[in-house]
Amino acid sequence: MTPEFFLLHSDLPREGPGDAESLRWACALAGVGRDARILDAGAGPGADVAGLLEAAPKGHVTAIEAHAPFAQGIAARHAGDPRVSAVQGDMAAPPGGPFDFVWSAGAVYFLGVEAALRAWAAALAPGGAVAFSEVVWLGADRPPDAAAFWKEYPAMTDTEGVTAAIGRAGYAVLGTRVLGDAAWEGYFQPMEARIAMLRASGASPALEEVLRAHETEIAVWRAHRDAFGYRLFVVRPE
Ligand SMILES: C[S@@+](CC[C@H](N)C(=O)[O-])C[C@H]1O[C@@H](n2cnc3c(N)ncnc32)[C@H](O)[C@@H]1O
Repeated sequence: MTPEFFLLHSDLPREGPGDAESLRWACALAGVGRDARILDAGAGPGADVAGLLEAAPKGHVTAIEAHAPFAQGIAARHAGDPRVSAVQGDMAAPPGGPFDFVWSAGAVYFLGVEAALRAWAAALAPGGAVAFSEVVWLGADRPPDAAAFWKEYPAMTDTEGVTAAIGRAGYAVLGTRVLGDAAWEGYFQPMEARIAMLRASGASPALEEVLRAHETEIAVWRAHRDAFGYRLFVVRPE
């Protein structure tokens, strides 16, 4: 990732689609208890930490994130709250544990579904569960614009493909649902505002290229939201 990429991706509330309502749904389905020990894997700027604490007000959230400024931002925002630890590191080898719940919004594709679930099995407490969102094709339609955009993720599959990977990793699906438009707009609208702000303050050619690429990403989703989306899976080792 270039400095221009991170210039756009700083000060955004979240780094991928998601919302409080779907997080609550996943926590309820996973049976997250009030004192649950939770791992937020690939936490980004920490958009879901507050919602995880809402589900587990007497629990603990370890937010692990590869990009140091994101981890530092989470630590600063929750300084003084002993229920939150922010760690810069690799979610494939999370520190601490065991965890009653692993939450991973839009980050599993960095590892692959099967590898991520295998890595987290060892970190889960007995009876623990994992919830993750993953981009999938929603039907047979592959609009050329969308297919061109998602070439960057060659392993992208459909619901059946993800379900098969979950099974190979030794997990069973407790429930699944597609994230709604509000979850996407919660990511894209702040990004559009930041694009406008960066442009207004004079974007270099390299930054302008990054801004355009992200505008394309937003336009592709708005045009083809029926063809692909993020599906949330709540799973538990069998
Ligand atoms: C699409 S963003 C989603 C962030 C956050 N969950 C959200 O919904 O706003 C994925 C995040 O995973 C992080 N990431 C990628 N690979 C990682 C790894 N191996 N360990 C920890 N974090 C990772 C990236 O730096 C990025 O912040």
